Amino acid sequence: MTRGTTNPNRLRRMDRWITAVHGPTLRRAPRAPGPLAVDLGYGAAPWTAVELLHRLRRVRPDVRVIGVEIDQRRVTAAEPWVRPGLDFVRGGFELPLPGGERPLLIRAANVLRQYDEERVPAAWARLCGRLAPGGLLVEGTCDEIGRRQVWVALGPEGPRTVTFAARLGSLGTPSDLAERLPKALIHHNVPGQRVHAFLRDFDRAWAAAAPYAPLGARQRWLHAVRALATDWPVADTAHRWRQGEVTVPWSALAPRL
Ligand SMILES: C[S@@+](CC[C@H](N)C(=O)[O-])C[C@H]1O[C@@H](n2cnc3c(N)ncnc32)[C@H](O)[C@@H]1O
Repeated sequence: MTRGTTNPNRLRRMDRWITAVHGPTLRRAPRAPGPLAVDLGYGAAPWTAVELLHRLRRVRPDVRVIGVEIDQRRVTAAEPWVRPGLDFVRGGFELPLPGGERPLLIRAANVLRQYDEERVPAAWARLCGRLAPGGLLVEGTCDEIGRRQVWVALGPEGPRTVTFAARLGSLGTPSDLAERLPKALIHHNVPGQRVHAFLRDFDRAWAAAAPYAPLGARQRWLHAVRALATDWPVADTAHRWRQGEVTVPWSALAPRL
């Protein structure tokens, strides 16, 4: 299909993490009508929703996706893509889903970055309050072609983790990811704040791992993350480190107010 100006696969890293981490929950969900996922703020074209449907269907073939957009013109433009298991509705953080259904997944990519930071807690609370039991909200930001992504994962109770993901071949240094921090963190990347200390330490670990660079960026990243994990509560999932990801608990990076 023609994708116009939208970059295909922009959210591939985020979706890959979702299917890995949330896949078991999706698989366990009751049958008929199957678990529901929401692509909140899918944008000018519905590609990210179409891609989310395809990716989630690899782990749960009867999953359904509803794209929710605040812009009615974007809902109208998405109509030709409506098909069984894929629909589009106009709405915002209140998620006006048919029958008041609660989704097992909400993915909000590059949406909250458009808002003032003060709006984030209420938006998170509203969205978390709409999740089904065991549900997950993934809220984050990426660059135009998805090489750098950072997202927060939240359960019905609130924020759980922060994940940094990069295409390693094009990464200069880990703090390059700072420009893609979600709204809740980006204004706190200053001395004295935990996220700033984390990225500083990550850069130091990356520099110390430079001797591994001739073996490839992945080897260098793996050594840097292993060093980082001596001082930070990095999730011990080495297979995810290999994908160019690092996840830490939200509490390790949460802004000091
Ligand atoms: C930058 S686009 C992101 C598109 C897509 N999610 C992506 O990452 O490529 C942000 C979209 O969010 C929509 N949006 C902004 N606030 C929203 C809200 N409260 N509820 C639903 N959509 C919203 C905008 O209309 C816009 O289409």
